[in-house]
Amino acid sequence: MNTAKLATLDDVPGWLFSQDQALISWFLERQNRLAIPGDLLELGAYLGKSAILIGQYRVDDQRLTVCDLFEDAAQDHDNDEEMRQYRSTLTRLAFERNYLAFHTALPSIVQGLTSSISSHVAPRSCRFAHVDASHLYEHVEADIKACRAALHSDGLLVCDDFRAPHTPGVAAAVWSAVTSGELHPICLSDSKFYGTWGDPGPVQSELIAWLETFGPQYVETQKIAGSTVVRVADWHPPKAEIRSHAHVATRIGAPGVEASALRKGIPIARRVAREVLPPVITRALKALMRFATNQSTTR
Ligand SMILES: C[S@@+](CC[C@H](N)C(=O)[O-])C[C@H]1O[C@@H](n2cnc3c(N)ncnc32)[C@H](O)[C@@H]1O
Repeated sequence: MNTAKLATLDDVPGWLFSQDQALISWFLERQNRLAIPGDLLELGAYLGKSAILIGQYRVDDQRLTVCDLFEDAAQDHDNDEEMRQYRSTLTRLAFERNYLAFHTALPSIVQGLTSSISSHVAPRSCRFAHVDASHLYEHVEADIKACRAALHSDGLLVCDDFRAPHTPGVAAAVWSAVTSGELHPICLSDSKFYGTWGDPGPVQSELIAWLETFGPQYVETQKIAGSTVVRVADWHPPKAEIRSHAHVATRIGAPGVEASALRKGIPIARRVAREVLPPVITRALKALMRFATNQSTTR
């Protein structure tokens, strides 16, 4: 792929939909706001779409580690079959080029099976882990266990494709970790499961307040095996407009353009409102904005 053509995250091939771009950004921004320490981990990077987003929230000397086979062979037949869909596009070099189009340095890259990850990441050193490698039950079960060891008690686990029709193994592995009574769900998007082995209460309350302000019209909660879980549905937030260096370079200098806002790709007024105003005020503002939009579309 010609990285000169990468202007925004949207141009990077991958499977990270806008709901999860918004949720991952919210969880990581919250961790940064609360100065929750720890590294970031991704199992299954493909061409970098999710890693580029996660890397936006790495601060100071924190480490983002990504693990992928890239062009290496899998060690079992079923995993090798799974890998066939990536073979025509996936190389480590393509990942690195994409990542460097958005960031100034590469993450720590472990090229190999995710089953080796515990030898690269210290126990309880991480605050965030994204499981998106093999979708076969035995692999996902082992990946979740490895993430449990890597995460500290305020850590967040995100699992991809926990309910897609073609990935029943992910569903089985995720829900058995929940029904064992140890992994606590926080929320479910259309594609991803978000949970913690710590206390889900505070983060879940904050998430509900944020979703009621900026999220879908309707936020549902359900009880599963004694845990409350928030379900996000019918929600199409704007995509994270993370801009590549090339894109920023062409825009810097244009009147009224601020470099940091371009890199984050989020309007400054919205960021300030989201982070500073109390939920009751932002809720009222949101209602006002909806009213104004309805007025202008019904005219
Ligand atoms: C669905 S893709 C990841 C998508 C990426 N997270 C994104 O949002 O664009 C799955 C990736 O997992 C990798 N993979 C599959 N099985 C693996 C294994 N056993 N160990 C390491 N990587 C694996 C594949 O090479 C592929 O790049």
